[in-house]
Amino acid sequence: MSTTTIPHDFPLPAPEPSQRSDVWPWHTRRDDDGSLRIGSLNLRKIAQQWGTPVYVVSLDDLLGRAQVWKAAMDEAFWSGYGLAGAQVYYAGKAFLCKRVVRELCQEGIGIDTASEGELALALAAGAPPKLIGLHGNNKSQGALSTALEQGIGRIVVDSVGEIDRIDSLCSAMNTRARVMVRVTTGVHAGGHEFIATAHEDQKFGLSLATGAAREAVQRITACEHLDFVGLHSHIGSQIFDKGAFVEAATRLMGLRKELMDAGINTPELDLGGGYAISYWAGDSVAPSPKEYADELARVISTLSQDMDMEPPHISIEPGRSIAGPSTVTLYEVGTVKDVVLEDGSVRRYISVDGGMADNIRPALYGSVYTAALANRRSDQALTRCRIVGSHCESGDIIINDIALPCDVGRGDLLAVPATGAYGKSMASNYNMLPTPPVVGISGDKTELLVRPRTINDLISEDVS
Ligand code: LLP
Repeated sequence: MSTTTIPHDFPLPAPEPSQRSDVWPWHTRRDDDGSLRIGSLNLRKIAQQWGTPVYVVSLDDLLGRAQVWKAAMDEAFWSGYGLAGAQVYYAGKAFLCKRVVRELCQEGIGIDTASEGELALALAAGAPPKLIGLHGNNKSQGALSTALEQGIGRIVVDSVGEIDRIDSLCSAMNTRARVMVRVTTGVHAGGHEFIATAHEDQKFGLSLATGAAREAVQRITACEHLDFVGLHSHIGSQIFDKGAFVEAATRLMGLRKELMDAGINTPELDLGGGYAISYWAGDSVAPSPKEYADELARVISTLSQDMDMEPPHISIEPGRSIAGPSTVTLYEVGTVKDVVLEDGSVRRYISVDGGMADNIRPALYGSVYTAALANRRSDQALTRCRIVGSHCESGDIIINDIALPCDVGRGDLLAVPATGAYGKSMASNYNMLPTPPVVGISGDKTELLVRPRTINDLISEDVS
């Protein structure tokens, strides 16, 4: 096939791991034979062993990033400013599997869950209940009962009705609950409207501006079976701007001051998740955990002094910034088709054997990813490509615009990095496409973490 002339607005080529290492799992590089490898493991061999598509998670990367977060928070909140300490909860919605839960808990990192299923998985993995938090705007009775039975560390209440529900349930179960209040701080931030969560007109939290959050706290303190632990803020996701977190923390500190002055002890502030990662060459390099942590510690320390308050204990809930960069999705290339556009230029459509079922983020949020030829090196000229999946929708696009070597063809492997957060966890089986397996790699070992959902699995679920 011929190549197109390269126009000035030509899409960016995939950054090689050596150019933008932040987009790829730690220790990703090209082997001598041109194929990509993560650490000592060759992605071509992984595809041979496990088939495609496959989510390949570098456990060393994921656990390493969690440790970096923990160390950054400990350093900033214990040593740096002499504050009251900090706790990291990994937001399991990004990607949850038992092995990850076990390893994180061993490091003293907690697990933030957002449904009965996530809570059940964390418990099944053996997470100490005290290290688990539960969120949700519409928590099921099952989730609340399990949370209370197991005595989890905290339940983050999201509505006034929920306060009464938990109190009565505690009474019926003869137990107590530790609760936080999710506060809508009014800070509007986030990579996409669907993932911004602290403006007024959305379903989460209780408003700071209208006084609903304060009233909720007062109601909790009047409940016989509830212990008020603190305030929670999650402003959205994929936020590069440290200032947005600082603003939310400032507002929470203001509310805490009001509560403390009214005699309501408010020991903890949870500043939520939402820390950004880089997905492709057009993204700036995201701030490091240390940069976020130092900024948060600085504002909490300064405000504690200015407001003449004991500093609060701080917690955070990063999901994407722990799991996101750890994973690449490996696809095999199938159909390659050149389409002539209205202006006479050509766009090459490269179809792969997955699509919007294993990564809904481009279709849902317009998220931009990159991809690299994984099974070999090519020095051929670049051509303008669109990487599409195998579903029966024209919006089934994985990468809208990317420059790839013009000899990429059937049977080649493409690696799409930064798919560790909200890839597998948001996967569907649209068009009866199987869910890819999740394969973990660590050192020179690979292991199946989550088995695939095969066509036979899907057929056997249908009992009609
Ligand atoms: N804490 C709470 C209360 C949350 O709601 C979330 C994410 C997190 C922590 C973790 O946020 P992270 O650090 O991962 O940004 N599906 C979307 C993201 C939805 C996030 C929902 N809540 C996406 O694929 O971009």
